Amino acid sequence: MKATAFAPVNVALIKYWGKVDEKLRLPANASLSVNLTKLGTTTTVEWAKNSEPKIITENNFPMSVGLSSSASGYAAMTVAMAAAAGLKLSQKDLSRLARLGSGSACRSIPDGWAEWVTGNDQTSYAKTIFPADYWDLRILVVILSDKKKSVSSTAGQELAATSPFYQARIKGINSKISRIKSAIKEKNFTVIGEIMEEDCLNMHRVMQTQSPPLNYLLPATKTVIRSVRKWREEGLENYFTINTGQNVFVFCEPKNENKLIDKLSHTGCVIKVRRDKIGRGARLV
Ligand code: PMV
Repeated sequence: MKATAFAPVNVALIKYWGKVDEKLRLPANASLSVNLTKLGTTTTVEWAKNSEPKIITENNFPMSVGLSSSASGYAAMTVAMAAAAGLKLSQKDLSRLARLGSGSACRSIPDGWAEWVTGNDQTSYAKTIFPADYWDLRILVVILSDKKKSVSSTAGQELAATSPFYQARIKGINSKISRIKSAIKEKNFTVIGEIMEEDCLNMHRVMQTQSPPLNYLLPATKTVIRSVRKWREEGLENYFTINTGQNVFVFCEPKNENKLIDKLSHTGCVIKVRRDKIGRGARLV
């Protein structure tokens, strides 16, 4: 049988960094994300009886630059592979299976705002906490460089616990998750943005203090961080988050989107800005 699936990139507002089980990819902390609508992976799997599956996969954005291609990639492959094998799996099982490929991939399975909880192989998966159309926020994908990272997030995470700040971050996560969930419920963009930035910087401090240290931020990344804060002080509300790579995701309300794209394009370090919104999870196409 043959099946094609699309899975979106998901952007974590509360990040996953560190595992309690490397093989099963069970996370040391819960995380919370939104799916995008446009950035993603399309994968076709053809599986004839008694043969190896034939897989064709395509990302519509650059890989290995901090834009979570492994999340959309493994989520698309999981959904296409299950369908090509004639299996009708629940969303829970698809999320669990995607997790085994790349932890964060489990959050690209359900729609909209997703929470991935800690637990064992059966209980650690992601589910929707608010649907995709719950709130129209915009996510600007700010591409600063397409230079590929030299250390993958899987390799980097194996050393997370060597940072003296690792345990402190893990301890604070549950309270951050409950505060950000209340803010999403109240549609309080300011509180969401503040928690999101704080957690992103905490995660990067953990990476930078691991042994050996890991730094994914380029000078251009720091220029964008400074600009986002400066524009905010000037009254243009927007917040950043960054994964394992140099590129930046900027969250804003629709009324500020065009102005921010214009400002980002004039920082002198931005190659391209892609507009996106909060979207659905992985599906067959
Ligand atoms: O799923 P992995 O192993 O590629 O790790 C992803 C880790 C971050 O993108 C940095 C954080 C996250 O929660 O997406």
